[in-house]
Amino acid sequence: MDWGMKNRLGRIFNHKSNRTVMLAVDHGYFQGPTTGLKKPKETVVPLLPHCDSLFITRGMLRNCIPSNTNAPVFLRVSGGPSILGELSNEDITTSMKEALKLNAAGVGMSIFVGAKNEDRTISNLGRIVNEAEEYGVPVLAITAVGKEMGRDARYLGLACRIAAEMGAHIVKTYYCEEDFEKIVEGCPVPIVIAGGKKIPELEALKMSHDAISKGAVGVDMGRNIFQSENPVAMIQAVRAVVHENYTADEAFEMFNKLNRPK
Ligand code: R5P
Repeated sequence: MDWGMKNRLGRIFNHKSNRTVMLAVDHGYFQGPTTGLKKPKETVVPLLPHCDSLFITRGMLRNCIPSNTNAPVFLRVSGGPSILGELSNEDITTSMKEALKLNAAGVGMSIFVGAKNEDRTISNLGRIVNEAEEYGVPVLAITAVGKEMGRDARYLGLACRIAAEMGAHIVKTYYCEEDFEKIVEGCPVPIVIAGGKKIPELEALKMSHDAISKGAVGVDMGRNIFQSENPVAMIQAVRAVVHENYTADEAFEMFNKLNRPK
């Protein structure tokens, strides 16, 4: 691996745990002003010191994130359809030149395996990897689940493996209780989990813990952090699970302590 690629990956993985807490705040790229991100600056800025990287679009980055932040940036470079359209109809929206200009530590895009435009999204991933490799930029592939796609290990394992075969350096997928370890086994690059829809804090911590114990290297979590009643407390609790091997109960206790009114 080239020095630039190693350096960029080294910036997002914690040197002690070799794991990562990515904060996903890119939801507006197809969902518009999502709950919790209606005023992105207010929500995201206090979380920056607690994340290992920020997963975001260029528009939100330029307009809402102070340029002196230390948080490495993973730039979402795919998009196209809105929540009202055909979700798999994505294309590349942001160039590698733009990613470099924004000092991105990596780029990320979705693939829609099994959906109407799966072939285009998968070949787009191959193309992005070709370009990113030229500049030493890691690519995160997201196994998007459209409205009609399943979330079982068979489906997610297929999607993750395809992403890795296309050359993705990290794969973001969803957690499934049954056979998650088989998804990890079948995917030769590190896997981080998306959090999915908001669930109670303890459940989200349990999901993070279970994913880590079954081989995930971290999370790229959004709604379960920024829609929490206390996002700053929640991200710290998630960090404790990912980096310090806290159990879900221990991390929940930490969340409750941090969440107590002072
Ligand atoms: C989809 O909108 C994005 O890829 C998100 O970054 C991803 O789903 C992670 O966010 P969440 O934890 O809210 O699912």
